[in-house]
Amino acid sequence: MRAGSLLGLLRAPGIALRSATLSYRYRPAELLKLPIRAVWTARLDKHPDAGLSLGGRLYLGFFPGPDGIRSSEEIVHLARDRPVRVTLSRGSTFETQGVVLVAPGAEFVVSENGELSIGSGVLINSGVSVLCWDSVTIGDDCSFAFDSVVMDTDFHRIRPGQAGVTAPVVIGNHVWVGARATILKGVTIGDGAIVAAGSIVTRDVPARALVAGVPAGVIRHDVEWDR
Ligand SMILES: CC(C)(COP(=O)(O)OP(=O)(O)OC[C@H]1O[C@@H](n2cnc3c(N)ncnc32)[C@H](O)[C@@H]1OP(=O)(O)O)[C@@H](O)C(=O)NCCC(=O)NCCS
Repeated sequence: MRAGSLLGLLRAPGIALRSATLSYRYRPAELLKLPIRAVWTARLDKHPDAGLSLGGRLYLGFFPGPDGIRSSEEIVHLARDRPVRVTLSRGSTFETQGVVLVAPGAEFVVSENGELSIGSGVLINSGVSVLCWDSVTIGDDCSFAFDSVVMDTDFHRIRPGQAGVTAPVVIGNHVWVGARATILKGVTIGDGAIVAAGSIVTRDVPARALVAGVPAGVIRHDVEWDR
């Protein structure tokens, strides 16, 4: 662990303690690397038969300072009083490919046998919900603005015997999801796309398209965005 990083942890004993507890529960042999950095109130409820595999550090409830992608001051603190929560049910899996930053009040729920996969350099802002009942895949370098929702299930049938209440969601690389946007079951979003604030995405989004509205439609092609 780098000296600056260690000093930072010592100045925040709540973070040090919670990070150590969750990292130890994740993989005792990797305790010293602290693969999970978490605020005191962060919750990681993992069924013993659930799989957790981290390809990089997972930050829960704060964004890192000098040694990370963003400083904590840049989090939109709409949900700072709510804990960040990760729930992994029996038989579910949650894997990441690299650093993933999750702000306060964000929630991941992976239901029985669900599969949640998140790439590298992904930023999940406050109050975001990811509800995974089947499969949710999020690529590298994505940003989810505050209170956005990703859900791969409708939860309820609206017709007797209706099939297709649940279907995988695939979000490509470098996708920006605006504040309070909702991405519904079965949707695939192409690389580099932007989902405008408040949109409800019910159909696939082409790569590098900007979609907006309810239901979301393409309003611009060949867009670019940066952090
Ligand atoms: C994606 C976004 C940045 C695009 O902004 P922009 O390129 O300046 O878009 P414009 O204002 O030129 O709007 C283009 C058209 O789309 C419409 N539009 C823009 N945003 C919209 C939205 N969220 N929902 C519905 N329609 C929208 C505009 O009314 C306009 O329509 P018109 O051509 O008929 O007048 C912006 O829509 C947005 O979502 N901003 C919020 C981003 C956010 O959530 N940030 C949180 C921190 S990460």
